[in-house]
Amino acid sequence: LKHVWLDVDPGHDDATAIMLALHSPNIFLLGISTVHGNTASDWTMRNAARCLHAFGASSRYPGVRVYPGAPKPLLRPAKHDPEIHGADGLGGVEGLPDSESPNVVPWIAKDADGEYIRALDGMAHAVKHTWKRGNGNKTTIISSGPMTNIGLFVAVYPDLLEAVEEFVFMGGGVGLGNRSAVAEYNILCDPHAAQIVLDAPVKKTMIPINVTHTAIVTRAMHARLLDPATHLQDADADAPLPKPITNLRHTLSTLIGFFADSYKSTFGFNDGPPLHDALTVAYVSKPEIFKGTRYRVDIELTGTHTSGETVVDVWNYQACDESSWGPGQKNCIVTQSVDVSRFFDFFHDCVLRCDKV
Ligand code: BDR
Ligand code: CA
Repeated sequence: LKHVWLDVDPGHDDATAIMLALHSPNIFLLGISTVHGNTASDWTMRNAARCLHAFGASSRYPGVRVYPGAPKPLLRPAKHDPEIHGADGLGGVEGLPDSESPNVVPWIAKDADGEYIRALDGMAHAVKHTWKRGNGNKTTIISSGPMTNIGLFVAVYPDLLEAVEEFVFMGGGVGLGNRSAVAEYNILCDPHAAQIVLDAPVKKTMIPINVTHTAIVTRAMHARLLDPATHLQDADADAPLPKPITNLRHTLSTLIGFFADSYKSTFGFNDGPPLHDALTVAYVSKPEIFKGTRYRVDIELTGTHTSGETVVDVWNYQACDESSWGPGQKNCIVTQSVDVSRFFDFFHDCVLRCDKV
């Protein structure tokens, strides 16, 4: 069983990452922190809590909580992405509870005085507790948004890094960007935090857009989500999608539908949207379906045209080795491919388990 902390900015694909983290059989979810990103931090906090309710967290995780984190990047101004995710971060998603509802508010961590317990406190407590009380169990920290919370954790709690198994993050690209020619959104939002994480003496795995752009929810995958008994092919362009067999599937279908429209209008993705953030949880649960190589990775912090780029030294230009995961060394595993069909098998299995709770 892998002990996992999830840091998210929901966000359509972050919501799918939450669903997978709740229902992967070999993951034990310790808690969720939220960060500025796709929308303002107040919304990402509420959206994560809405997802916990909608995805049946109360059955396996009645004690799990959402811990609100940084409302802005370390140095840069906050930069949201309503074009992709709508103003509230989960545009077009039907069937989620209202953000003020009694089904949502209790999922947000509060202390005895009714004050929010913040992301850093939640993470530090979970990592320490898992290490001390769990006979040396280490925590895997997943990041699927800008890395402000994780960078702060690294800076504030260096003594806890020995209890971190790995940082797994969705972000960056190898020679490819999506919010500039070379910068991917999560890294571009807070490049300084990303560099702090890359410098941490802890194993890291990066899931770049080169890989996430292969995990497309095609029409056939969308049909399978609505009703696993139907076997629509991608070529059946004119065949109608089946009706959703459960409310959960309806919710996920509206999520995919909105995300598909965003990706079509903004990036010209005609076959469906990429499930970027879902791949982080898939990687932790099923690393064997990914291929990757260890490289030195740094962030371009000042470039005129390239700020926020992940500089992946694929030709080993810089003298470095694998002696540590720290600065100046091969500090990160960069995934290069995922077995897309096995990823979607995993995704659909989790939806099935989610449906049953
Ligand atoms: C990343 O940016 C956001 O739009 C998604 O949630 C994902 O984490 C992809 O670049
Ligand atoms: Ca995200």
